[in-house]
Amino acid sequence: MKAAVLHEVGGVPRYEDFPDPVAGAGEVVIDVRAVAVENVDKMIAAGTHYASKEFVDRLPVIPAFDGVGELPDGTLVGFGRPRHPYGALAEKTVVSADAYIPVPTDIDPAVVTVLGTAINGMSVRTAAGFVPGETVLVQGATGVAGRLAVKAARLLGAGRIVATGRDDTQLREVGADTVINTAVDDDALAKAFTEAKGDGYDVVVDFLWGRPTEILLRSLIPDSFAFPKPTRVIQIGESAGPSIALAAASLRTSGIEICGAAKGLDADTMRASYEQVLAWTRSGELTFELAKAPLRDIEAAWQRTDLRGRRLVVVM
Ligand SMILES: NC(=O)c1ccc[n+]([C@@H]2O[C@H](COP(=O)([O-])OP(=O)(O)OC[C@H]3O[C@@H](n4cnc5c(N)ncnc54)[C@H](OP(=O)(O)O)[C@@H]3O)[C@@H](O)[C@H]2O)c1
Repeated sequence: MKAAVLHEVGGVPRYEDFPDPVAGAGEVVIDVRAVAVENVDKMIAAGTHYASKEFVDRLPVIPAFDGVGELPDGTLVGFGRPRHPYGALAEKTVVSADAYIPVPTDIDPAVVTVLGTAINGMSVRTAAGFVPGETVLVQGATGVAGRLAVKAARLLGAGRIVATGRDDTQLREVGADTVINTAVDDDALAKAFTEAKGDGYDVVVDFLWGRPTEILLRSLIPDSFAFPKPTRVIQIGESAGPSIALAAASLRTSGIEICGAAKGLDADTMRASYEQVLAWTRSGELTFELAKAPLRDIEAAWQRTDLRGRRLVVVM
């Protein structure tokens, strides 16, 4: 079969022949249809992700650990965790028989690979208990996950959406009511957060962490004695940095509550989010910005830097 094969940590996968996988006991071979290539796949291949060692322990290896494909009986499934050295970026892969679930056949498999990213946007409801009319700030709104979070917040009935990014042109595209460019000095950014908050941010969906979120949290410290308006901050990504300095006053006086996107997740809330995202996708209310590439073009596609806000999906 053909596959995207990684020969060295930090290298670029190449389109090559690779031995077909053979299913062992309790395994099944999948005919792969579509695979989204995310930052996490690149970090793992680059050796910079905490899970890198597990994935690139034996080289050569096929990157990516989930996708959409067909079982031998033709059932379309979303699969995960192929057996090493097999990965998702190949014509075929092999997974444990409990590592797949059927997926809809009426939606383009390339779109199905991105539904999980949209479901992350539903954390405004599952983690933060969002109710219609509230003000939502999306930090990192120009990215794939951020754009989908803005769309989800809009569809859920946000009263006002504030979006941050580093590029004015990109920011204009995301569909927010107010945008903030974070690529300014610290004082200017703090001022922008303060000016844009109106009567306060109810929910912050944070794909950035690092400097922009540190400045945001500092900007929410009140400058007079008052009853603080609660701001529920959902931590979900760290594109701008893995850690922040958090002043005691940020928590003591601002009404900030910080939680992870996993808060409130169980089988029922996951299913409800999935069903909602599926319904919006089918109705056309939720759209996905994809850049599809055939597997044979993986070497060039892997190195693309022009995708901003679009998810690379490799199709077989
Ligand atoms: N994709 C998912 O399903 C998913 C799920 C959960 C969590 N996450 C996490 O969420 C984060 C974003 O994921 P994504 O897939 O949306 O990535 P992405 O498409 O690459 O978007 C990254 C976002 O972060 C911004 N950004 C990057 N570096 C920055 C910096 N140094 N300072 C300020 N802003 C910066 C980008 O702004 P520009 O547009 O200006 O580059 C963009 O808005 C990642 O940490 C990811 O691991 C992703």
